[in-house]
Amino acid sequence: MEQTHKHKKLYIKTWGCQMNVYDSNRMVDILSALGYKQVNSPEDVDMIILNTCHIREKAIEKVFSELGRLRPYKQAKESKGGKMLIAVAGCVAQAEGDIIMKRAPYVDMVFGPQVYHQLPEMVLKASSDERVINTEFPTISKFDSLPDEHTIEGASAYLSIQEGCDNFCTFCVVPYTRGAEYSRSAREIIDEAHRLVDQGVLEIILLGQNVNTYHGAGLNGGTWKLANIIRAISEIDGVERVRYSTSHPRDMSDDLIAVHGEIEKLQPFLHLPVQSGSDKILESMNRKHTADHYREIIARLRKVCPDMAFSSDYIIGFPGETEEDFEATMQLARDVNYASCYSFKYSSRPGTPAANLKEGIVPDHIASERLARFQALINEQQTAFNQTCIGRTPPILFDRKGKKPDQLSGRSPYFQSVYVQGNERLIGHIIPVKITQAFDNSLTGEIEIYEDGSKD
Ligand code: 5AD
Ligand code: SF4
Repeated sequence: MEQTHKHKKLYIKTWGCQMNVYDSNRMVDILSALGYKQVNSPEDVDMIILNTCHIREKAIEKVFSELGRLRPYKQAKESKGGKMLIAVAGCVAQAEGDIIMKRAPYVDMVFGPQVYHQLPEMVLKASSDERVINTEFPTISKFDSLPDEHTIEGASAYLSIQEGCDNFCTFCVVPYTRGAEYSRSAREIIDEAHRLVDQGVLEIILLGQNVNTYHGAGLNGGTWKLANIIRAISEIDGVERVRYSTSHPRDMSDDLIAVHGEIEKLQPFLHLPVQSGSDKILESMNRKHTADHYREIIARLRKVCPDMAFSSDYIIGFPGETEEDFEATMQLARDVNYASCYSFKYSSRPGTPAANLKEGIVPDHIASERLARFQALINEQQTAFNQTCIGRTPPILFDRKGKKPDQLSGRSPYFQSVYVQGNERLIGHIIPVKITQAFDNSLTGEIEIYEDGSKD
């Protein structure tokens, strides 16, 4: 007898960092066991999840405005006798769950990043009309009870190896929303990497809020560091590329710097947030490193891996930042010469130590003007870096279709987006591409010859 299986529809919207993207995929996996299938529109779905990020200003306002936009979908479905659950997950839920429950009575579930493994239980409760709020930090690790199967899109996958942060940079909410630092064991990580490879993944991006503080149980007893994990992952047959993100300069240890010169699969690109070029500001941010310390790390990495390229995060307009401090920030960026870089205007996050700083508040128009100057410098650097790629033939990992017909999108070793005209069957392969044009944020190129020797 043929069974008819009606899927439930799940719409999930993700804000913020790669950790949230990873978490959303994990939630999709867990819910697939309950019959949910991800769709791209909120219309007529059975569940909506907003996976939120708390790092920026007005995060909660953005959540409420999205909830306001989505509420009519729920009303439409329920007026026809159906049911639609709305959940708010992620760091805003963790930090401001009570407010969400109060201000949005039509929200059915609110839960933080530590409890995704309890989703089936929470869905059960919410389905019987019990509102769920779950923002406690549990003592057991959520990693232990997540399913092994992954939803993989493309040939590049994130593998979360570490969570949380104990650094307490004074501007940052992560130690409060994501909790204390926790590292998975090498065994779990390596097993997960094997499963990814079995599903066709070629590139593994080791993820953690503070990934280079990794210190998990090793394979033969003892503690492993990130360098050990990188080595073990790169030795797996089928893994062609390894990356890791996000790192703290303070934890760029000698062994980690050394692997950049030793392991070819480790890609020559590193995202290394520095936040400021002024030692005074770095100290006030509780970063525990100086600008020169950062310059030295970059120099040492370039020494072991001469074609290494860098990106970073900078915060502009932190309390106490004078024109001189800002000039030190500009000088650091000039010295490093980035391939790409994120920069943010400082915004005060309630509950963080920096929110109590009362002196030297930088007026908004000055912060904006400095940010514009900084971003102009970065744009120049990024465009110049992209220009140096023209005429070269880097290996590109194709992981998805582009937006235009017959267009493919992939990544260079330096994590640049590269677009080509090509056959879809190239997705999931690494192919040399002759770069023909450079733009601010991407490259285009031509495939000269395919892996199997054919021309199309
Ligand atoms: N204001 C501005 N930028 C911030 N970031 C984190 N907290 C804040 C804040 N309060 C930036 C940092 C971090 C990136 C993910 O977000 O640069 O590295
Ligand atoms: Fe936040 Fe600092 Fe931890 Fe990064 S290292 S997550 S900026 S506290």
